[in-house]
Order: sequence, then structure tokens, then C-alpha cells
Amino acid sequence: MFLKWVILVLPLIYCSCGQNPAMQVVLNDKGLQYGRHVVAGWIQDKLEHGTLPDISGKINLGFLFNIQYTISGVTVRKCDFPEPSVEFYQATSGLKMSIIGLNVALAGDWKANCRFIHENGSFDMALFGVDLISTVKLGMDTDGHMSLTSVNCIAQTGDVDLRFHGETSWFQRLLEGRIKDHLTKQLPTTICSAVEEVIASLENHLKDMNVNFPLNEDVTLDLPLIDQPVVHMKNLHLGLKGEIHSNTCPRDPPFVAQAFSVLQRPGYMLSVGLSDFTLNSASFSYYSSNLLQVFINDSMIPPSFPVRLNTSSMGPFIPQLPKMFPDLLMLLHIHATDIPMFSFRSGAVVLSAKGAVEAFAIQGTALTPLFKVCVNSNFKGKARVDVGRLKGSVTMHNFSMNLGESEIGPFKTDALENMAVMLMQIAILPQLNEKLAVGFALPRTAHAQLVNSLLTVEEGFVAFSSDAQLVTKDAMFR
Ligand SMILES: *[C@@H]1O[C@H](CO)[C@@H](O)[C@H](O)[C@H]1NC(C)=O
Ligand SMILES: *[C@@H]1O[C@H](CO)[C@@H](O)[C@H](O)[C@H]1NC(C)=O
Ligand SMILES: *[C@@H]1O[C@H](CO)[C@@H](O)[C@H](O)[C@H]1NC(C)=O
Ligand SMILES: *[C@@H]1O[C@H](CO)[C@@H](O)[C@H](O)[C@H]1NC(C)=O
Repeated sequence: MFLKWVILVLPLIYCSCGQNPAMQVVLNDKGLQYGRHVVAGWIQDKLEHGTLPDISGKINLGFLFNIQYTISGVTVRKCDFPEPSVEFYQATSGLKMSIIGLNVALAGDWKANCRFIHENGSFDMALFGVDLISTVKLGMDTDGHMSLTSVNCIAQTGDVDLRFHGETSWFQRLLEGRIKDHLTKQLPTTICSAVEEVIASLENHLKDMNVNFPLNEDVTLDLPLIDQPVVHMKNLHLGLKGEIHSNTCPRDPPFVAQAFSVLQRPGYMLSVGLSDFTLNSASFSYYSSNLLQVFINDSMIPPSFPVRLNTSSMGPFIPQLPKMFPDLLMLLHIHATDIPMFSFRSGAVVLSAKGAVEAFAIQGTALTPLFKVCVNSNFKGKARVDVGRLKGSVTMHNFSMNLGESEIGPFKTDALENMAVMLMQIAILPQLNEKLAVGFALPRTAHAQLVNSLLTVEEGFVAFSSDAQLVTKDAMFR
């Protein structure tokens, strides 16, 4: 009974079941092949400029005689490095990499002991027809990092040619032959353990990778994996949390991400789908941290605007105001009264926001409350990527106002509403649109940048597809 319970409950601890990823990333075959090309160049570079690990072995000659040998300081003289192949491999839910027909010329030092005899020298070695096939599994650890484990490694060497340098004694010739035979047998294991070491060190890098990215002092973007990576024939699919939380009071919003299917665009290296949940979680964070409020005074109204923020200037809109409070400067407190919600509709981003405007008269250091109006507004935005920048434009739809509380008696809000719409249309939106037309540079790292990007707004999510380009080849692997 207990065992049954454990079996039923265990999976719940490991996956946050029921939660939909708000961000989905698809790595297409084109992206994998670009990665393979970059990594192949890097391996060749390392092979040509580095020293290979030492190899030691013990050869049993019989009659209690052993030869203990070490070859060290091995460098690659020449390498005929065929393009490796990499493919998505559903059988291990990972990747399969192979290099077929590698030829390499090596040079180094050898050292051997047999009882009281110590011999050493330098050598040349050639390996012909080395084949290597390695398969790995992609998974996820409990913190939402991607994990990489070696599933299988097969290495084969064709011919091995070993030559000791200089004049060789009969004993050295014996060693040469024995070491060559032993190496021929041992090399496949040595090659595979080197490959497994590289995989383990990549796995360590993945484990150390950040999954939380502070966007500014107020909010942080959480991008852990929430599902196991899914390997298909031609792509790899990652589901990420994609929630923006407040730095001061991190809480989950009172809504969840809706499921969506990211657009397949195999012509691009990668595709990303971002649900409106991500923007709304940011909206919730700002709202619940009381950051969606602003105080507006007269000096913030553009000088060209015909109406000033003082009680006399408000006469045409609220006739009783200048009579009750003549010639006083005013202060407005504008704040959201609900979480502003974004929704992605095909072709447009719609924002509906509810707020309140509280008006005060400034009497010396005191603020006298005058009235409060509630505002309902709807905005529609368009977004696109143009030459590496995210650009957009916003228009206003449905702006309406009604009187909430009033210390100065009732008044009609129509005229005030028209004035607010005018302020929006001639001052606020043009300024905002000017900034959006210039746009924001797409995110890039020190090593890579996005090129050839396309962004479209779909029902419920934004679809972004792009190629990537490495800027500095070397730094990426340090
Ligand atoms: C190599 O052998 C020579 C003698 O043949 C010896 O003088 C030298 O110390 C040895 N070097 C090493 C590193 O064992
Ligand atoms: C208006 O507010 C700004 C920013 O809060 C402040 O710097 C400025 O002094 C205020 N102007 C008046 C006239 O109160
Ligand atoms: C109020 O605004 C009017 C212009 O509409 C201006 O003439 C007047 O000086 C302003 N009063 C104060 C107290 O700023
Ligand atoms: C405002 O909303 C109503 C329905 O609520 C709609 O009929 C009208 O077209 C909208 N106005 C604008 C300017 O979008």
C-alpha cells in the first residue's frame, strides 16, 4: 500500500504538473547544424593547439614481468578532421553525434619501466580511421536546468602506427611493439572516457546556468524548465516557466498560463512562443507592489497644452470648482485599480487598464481632496522586429470616465473625458509612439546575437523566430 502511494506521489514532486509553460523554445535542425559547425571548429582548434591527456598502461609479459608505460605531452601534428554529424535522437531523447574516419598524427614522449630498467624517449604516432559515435540524453534537474548525460559511446580505431625516435635498442623495439599493440586495444576506451569527461563538464556548466534574470530593480524573469525537454525528429522542444515576479514580494499571480502550440518555422534556427501570461505576470507584480501610480502636477503638463492643472483653468469642465477653490494649483494621483491585462490577439496586443484619478487642490503644504474619477481604457498595440530592433505602435480605444467620489458636488465628466482623450492623443501617445518607433535592441549576449528575426502576434501568444550568430567564437567555451 505504502509503495503504491510512493509510486503515485513521487512524480508529482518532480514535475509541477498542470502548469503550462509560458515560454516555449524550439531548437530546429538548422540551429543544431549551426551549433555543430561552431563546435567542430572549436574542437579542431583545441586539437591543433592543445596537449592531449596522458595515457598510462600496464603490459603483462608473463613470469611476473610487467611493463609500466606512460605517454605524455602528446600534441597533434596534423589532423584530418571530417565534419562531424549531429542529429536529434529520439531513441535516447537526446542527441547523437558521430565522427567517421578521423586521421591524426601525434607526437609526444614515452616512458617505460620494467623492473629495474627505465627507458624513455619521444615518439611519433599516427591513428587512421578513428570512428566515434556518442549518444546523450537531455533531461531536466529539479531546479529546472537542462541536464545532459552520456548514454552510449562507441569508438574504434583503424590502424595505429607508433615510431620511437632515435636509435633504438632491441629492448626499445620490443617496447615499441608492445606499447603499440596495447594502445590499439586501449584507445577506444581512452577516447570514450575523454568524451564522457567533456559531457560531464558541459553538464556542470548547465547546472550552473542562471534560470532567473533580473530585468530591473523591481522585477525578475524566471525561466526554469518546467517540463522534460522533448526531442522530435527535426527539433528539440523546451517548455519554460516564463513568469515575471516582483523582487520585493514575489507571489504567483491569480491566473495561470494557457496552453498554446508554438508555430513551427523550420527555416529558422530557433522559434520562441511567449504567452500573454508573461506580460500579465509582470503587470501583476507591478500592480501588487504599488508601482502603478503616478503623481502629476502642473509643471509636468506640456507647456503647449491649453489647459493648466489649476482650479481656474478647470472652470470650463467643472464649473463649481473655481468658485469653491479659486486659483489654486492642483495635483493628480493616477493609479491602477486592477491588474492591467494584456491579451495577444492575432495581429495585435490589447491592453485593458482600469484606474482612478484623484484630484487635490494644493493649499500651501496641505492637499485638499476634490474628486475622484474612475477610468476604463483600452489600448491596441502592434509589434514587429525590424533590423534587429523590436518596434511598435500604440493606439487608444475606448477611454471612458465616470465620477467616483466628489467633495465638490456632482458634475458631468464628458468634457473632462474629452480633455483627457485630447491630452492622451496629442501629448502622451505621440511621445510613446516616438519611442516605440525607435524601438529596443533585441537581447544579445557578449558571444551571440540574433539575426534575421521575425515576430508576429498570434491568438494567445507572440511567435518569434530567429537565426543566431556567434560574435566571438572563443569566449563561448571558456
Ligand atoms: C631518460 O633517460 C635518460 C637516460 O637514457 C636519463 O638520463 C633521463 O633522466 C631520463 N628522463 C626521464 C624523464 O626519465
Ligand atoms: C511637480 O513634480 C515634480 C516631480 O515630482 C517636482 O520636481 C516639481 O517640483 C513639482 N512642481 C510643482 C510646481 O510642484
Ligand atoms: C491657472 O491657469 C491659467 C491659464 O489657464 C493661468 O492664467 C493662471 O495663472 C494659472 N493659475 C495658477 C495659480 O497657476
Ligand atoms: C468601445 O467599445 C465598444 C464595445 O464595448 C465598441 O463597440 C466600440 O467600437 C469601442 N470603441 C472604440 C473606439 O474602439
